[in-house]
Amino acid sequence: MFASALNRIETSASAVMTQRARAMRNAGRDVLALSMGQPDFDTPEHIKDAAKAAMDRGETGYPPLAGTEVLKRAIQEKFKRENSLDYDVDQILVSNGGKQIIFNAFAATINPGDEVIVPAPYWVSYPDIVKYTGGTPVFVETELQNGFRLTASALEAAITAKTRWLVLNSPNNPSGGCYRPEDLMSLAAVLAAHPHIRVLTDDIYEHLVFDGKFTTICQVAPELTDRVLTMNGVSKAYAMTGWRIGYAAGDVDLIKAMAKMQSQVTGGACSISQAAAAEALSGDQTLVTERRASFKARRDHVVARLNQISGLRCIMPDGAFYVFPDCRGWLGRWTAGGAVLNNDSDVAEQLLEEQEVAVVHGAAYGLSPHIRISYATDMATLDTALDRINAFAEGLS
Ligand SMILES: Cc1ncc(COP(=O)(O)O)c(C=O)c1O
Repeated sequence: MFASALNRIETSASAVMTQRARAMRNAGRDVLALSMGQPDFDTPEHIKDAAKAAMDRGETGYPPLAGTEVLKRAIQEKFKRENSLDYDVDQILVSNGGKQIIFNAFAATINPGDEVIVPAPYWVSYPDIVKYTGGTPVFVETELQNGFRLTASALEAAITAKTRWLVLNSPNNPSGGCYRPEDLMSLAAVLAAHPHIRVLTDDIYEHLVFDGKFTTICQVAPELTDRVLTMNGVSKAYAMTGWRIGYAAGDVDLIKAMAKMQSQVTGGACSISQAAAAEALSGDQTLVTERRASFKARRDHVVARLNQISGLRCIMPDGAFYVFPDCRGWLGRWTAGGAVLNNDSDVAEQLLEEQEVAVVHGAAYGLSPHIRISYATDMATLDTALDRINAFAEGLS
């Protein structure tokens, strides 16, 4: 017997696909995994050194529940320097990854029946965490033509008396779409008339914006600051997915409630990782810039090649390290291996089976028919994978 709440959630589709790709590779198949949501780079050396120094200093005991003073100060500075946002240290919480920040926030605020507006496509964990806590995710589909951005009118139409949160994620996983200041201002204008709604802004891909400048909602709508939880983390910007450090800033009472939740789940984030994260945020940022340039070159290459493949349509996303091409041109057709493609799940399945390329189906992110391709891998692998995807398209009848 397991808890009924467990039946409301699923293991993340990208994790499932990546595990399958790994199992096939172990069985001797030449699988290329474009399903992973992590940079292919290593954590920079100066960050690793900071972790080693923390160990040598004996920082190996239980850390303060809401985060070490050093890291919270580094986060405070980061918000000021990069986002022009001013937070007190007690408005900041550090958790085991951005994922735990989101868990803490929803678990601390959602009652059964409460609604959370989640624009689709979305990162898979938002709806599952909402469901786990007894709430109801309310999905609002966005459109490729509109850069996968939620519009003010679609937001207005989704709001009810039960709405507790709006989730914004820019740059977006899986679409790479970004909100421009004017988009955020028009959403803020809607939210102004609905004071019962909080905003979770997931800014974890902030440093992977290639065109234009990153903007977070509090910058353009400071009047919403008390209602916005600004979430970020070191996983994507600093290639630190395994260190498990995420953080957020917001209203002091919300942060206290989230810390209370955290006190019974983990009791705080790894002290050594916190020292490393402080160095990541405060230290030399050269590698962030260099790696961004490398992701941009990959994006440009991948999008150009995908748009040459018959049946796929891909916009040039502004950020993150994913593309989310529309694959409706392939539906209803037969693959060279003799399978019919009824939906994007079939597409991902047959790409894996017939061409040994692992991607994730759009349905997992709430928007079909699409596939998510992560380009967080080297150019040579990307080119081989694109050759195979092209061969797949050529083989359709
Ligand atoms: C949009 C988004 N938010 C949050 C996270 C969580 O990252 P972490 O828990 O590693 O900080 C991810 C990871 O894939 C993500 O894609």
